[in-house]
Amino acid sequence: MPSRTNSDMEIPPGLETTKRKVAHSDEHGFSDDLDQVRVPNVIVMVGLPARGKTYISKKLCRYLKWTGFKTKVFNVGEYRRTDANAADAIHGANASFFSPDNAEALKVRTESARRAMEDMADYLNSGTGSVAIFDATNTTKDRRSIIIDFCKKKRLRCFFIESVCDDPAIIDSNVTDVKVNSPDYKGLMTAEQAKEDFMNRIENYKRQYEPLEESEHESLSFIKVINAGRSFKVHQVRGHVQSRVVYFLMNIHLLPRSIYLTRHGQSEYNAMGRLGGDSPLTEDGRKYAAALADFFEEEEVPGLRVWCSQKVRAAQTAQHLKPDFHTEYWKALDELDAGICEGLTYEDIQQRYPKQADDRATDKYHYRYPSGESYEDVVSRLEPVIMELERQANVLVVSHQAVLRCVLAYFYDRPLSELPYIDIPLHSLVKLTPRAYHCDSTIYALDLDTQEWTETSAQLPLCDSPRD
Ligand code: F6P
Repeated sequence: MPSRTNSDMEIPPGLETTKRKVAHSDEHGFSDDLDQVRVPNVIVMVGLPARGKTYISKKLCRYLKWTGFKTKVFNVGEYRRTDANAADAIHGANASFFSPDNAEALKVRTESARRAMEDMADYLNSGTGSVAIFDATNTTKDRRSIIIDFCKKKRLRCFFIESVCDDPAIIDSNVTDVKVNSPDYKGLMTAEQAKEDFMNRIENYKRQYEPLEESEHESLSFIKVINAGRSFKVHQVRGHVQSRVVYFLMNIHLLPRSIYLTRHGQSEYNAMGRLGGDSPLTEDGRKYAAALADFFEEEEVPGLRVWCSQKVRAAQTAQHLKPDFHTEYWKALDELDAGICEGLTYEDIQQRYPKQADDRATDKYHYRYPSGESYEDVVSRLEPVIMELERQANVLVVSHQAVLRCVLAYFYDRPLSELPYIDIPLHSLVKLTPRAYHCDSTIYALDLDTQEWTETSAQLPLCDSPRD
């Protein structure tokens, strides 16, 4: 099958030659040099409470997983609250637990960090994952020095992300929207009491906080994200993963907005069950295009931009939208190229190329059509689109089934194995609204006869068989 294997997914495209060289460097696949390509990465969060560390960790994890790096977040707060420490979990509900003078609590916190670090090293050194995100405050030089030594011993490359924020509005909204719902407070106090306690917790951390400094360690690699991305300081970035992380962090924003996704209306090829091609819309497809324009006329989305593929069926679907939406046509949004199977039906493929049909059924994500693309290829070409979506406010994307599956898997945080099976019916529109730790999803389905939309709050489910 013309595809890459799972383990290859950890290697950035184009670096296979380097990988082969590295694989012979010693029995573990690593040499002494932590500048090798294949060294697993630990990303260490730094910052006072309520500075968005968990937000960054989760978002970064989702992005890295989508790009093919097996990534996991290790949240030390969760370790503190696990069964082993059950008796201490409740202490998190009192700011005094986080006082630098509380020696007993410090032991519990240090032990939780140690357990998280051990699990992280197992995850990386067993080959299960290639990136671990260590989500804790790590606000002292001592704590960071322990982490650096640990990573060195375990042959892991270490990168720090410090979130620095002195904007009271950002801190207040983080505490009010996220922290008062922390499991530390659940069922124990009111939101006002939780907020007051959390502010005291921050004060306790401030007493011992030592911001990252270049001079702190001879080979410190880090990025400081200042006031949720208003400015940055980047120091000694090493390797592909770290540079990707920096690129990502410099593009994301916190402003409220929505992303709308739709397939084109029904095309002539859709009506015949044929794949791909560049056919125009059918009568039903044209009805959908008209209804879509009406939808956005009523919805009045401020500053909406439209991104459309370069295929005729997509352009026709977008053609009645208001000209002030400034439609842009992206080649990257064109449908997955089915190569020698373009224009065939699924039955034709089964008859003419049964081996291809079987291979595709075995591993749909990695399967590449001869002279065409795989889903993995589409994810790669969509990365600039995702990055631009992260930078923008309200956007409507008019594209195709396979492409929108890739985009949705990113926002829904679905595993790559599920991605090719997300069920995206024709004549429906998905509205995604990113929240702190997840993305709200609303589906609007059009009844072509009545021209009425039905609205459901849910993620699109997985389908068993392909749709045309
Ligand atoms: O059938 C419509 C279509 O957009 C084709 O052009 C494309 O090849 C196919 O869907 C992708 O879906 P699947 O990967 O399930 O075959």
